[in-house]
Amino acid sequence: MSVPFVNEQVLINLAERSYPIWIAGGLLADARTYLELPSAAAAMVVTNTTVALLYQDRLVAALRGRYQHVYSVALPDGEEHKTWQTLNLVFDALLRNACDRRTVLFALGGGVVGDMTGFAAACYMRGVPFVQVPTTLLAQVDSSVGGKTAVNHPLGKNMIGAFYQPVKVICDLDTLSSLPAREMSAGLAEVIKYGPIADMAFFDWTEANLDALLARDRRTLAFAVRRSCEIKASIVGQDEREAGLREILNFGHTFGHAIEAGLGYGQWLHGEAVACGMVMAAHLSCRLGRVDGAFVDRLTRLLRRAGLPVVGPVLPAPQPALPGDDNASRYLQRMRTDKKAHAGEIRFVVTGPPGTAHVQAAPDAMVRQVIDTVCG
Ligand code: NAD
Ligand code: GLY
Repeated sequence: MSVPFVNEQVLINLAERSYPIWIAGGLLADARTYLELPSAAAAMVVTNTTVALLYQDRLVAALRGRYQHVYSVALPDGEEHKTWQTLNLVFDALLRNACDRRTVLFALGGGVVGDMTGFAAACYMRGVPFVQVPTTLLAQVDSSVGGKTAVNHPLGKNMIGAFYQPVKVICDLDTLSSLPAREMSAGLAEVIKYGPIADMAFFDWTEANLDALLARDRRTLAFAVRRSCEIKASIVGQDEREAGLREILNFGHTFGHAIEAGLGYGQWLHGEAVACGMVMAAHLSCRLGRVDGAFVDRLTRLLRRAGLPVVGPVLPAPQPALPGDDNASRYLQRMRTDKKAHAGEIRFVVTGPPGTAHVQAAPDAMVRQVIDTVCG
């Protein structure tokens, strides 16, 4: 199908599970955006209470041309609500409306809504189609693409979930205009991530265009979303279920997830935790001899310019206190349940030379030094 009103398209190439990502302004309310989606009697828009007020009516109106029944459910907003209990609200809404197994789910929101809607789609009647309509920068450049879906557990981030691909991703750049500045910065963390792991030319470009990105210049944002999706598409196309290569997309996430879970979900935004985690991962890469100190400084400077934290938090002490407890032990304890860990051995995404990355273990003593260096 020709799509003259879409400036940018990226294809996720996964044989029969392939799908397009459309990137443009004005997509959300344009009925042409939805023409080729699976036909069904009903659609269910899953969103949250914040995004519902901004964009739900526009999406529902556009979908009415294609689906006889368009239902919606607004979940509570926030990472702390990315839980099994909240997920059940989606199933309640689907069952209450007698939605059949052809019903198409639409995830309208950021990564939290996207991850939960995808998981609900994977489970409801053993699988119904779903469409990602990401409305945060983070979701447009990362979470809506690649089919990772999940909810959190108090003991670990994204621990309960499934790989389940959407049938389409619709990135309407106009939605980014209402995003709070702090959320824009959080999204930039994942944009910046792609440089050290895969494409230093993109890192150079991000450094040069950061001010335009922060000012939300449309053309600059369109390129950032497209290039991020291309890099992710290439990696996911080679390793959909994270048997190896895909792990590099978790640069900074091992430390970052420890921050999110350790402080309590929602205290630091995911992108903020990843940013600080990348500073730690860069220091570790340096200690392992993969990058020099100048690269660590360069990455840290760019993250700081993007409005992101580069000093790690001290995690709260466990109750009751454990013998030998200190901040580094708290991080290490959290990181032992990371999904990349093997038999309790923590494995880190290490960059170096810049633009390449791999996963390896590191001595606890070295990891402790990194944590002590980066945490305030
Ligand atoms: P989020 O979903 O919590 O959204 C951030 C905030 O912005 C929320 O308060 C939301 O209501 C609000 N919001 C959303 N769109 C808006 C808009 N257009 N205007 C104004 N406000 C808007 O957070 P996020 O940063 O989008 O996503 C983080 C989540 O994504 C985490 O749970 C993380 O684990 C997950 N994630 C998943 C993947 C993946 O591959 N599946 C990758 C990266 C991150
Ligand atoms: N955000 C990590 C991944 O999609 O694999």
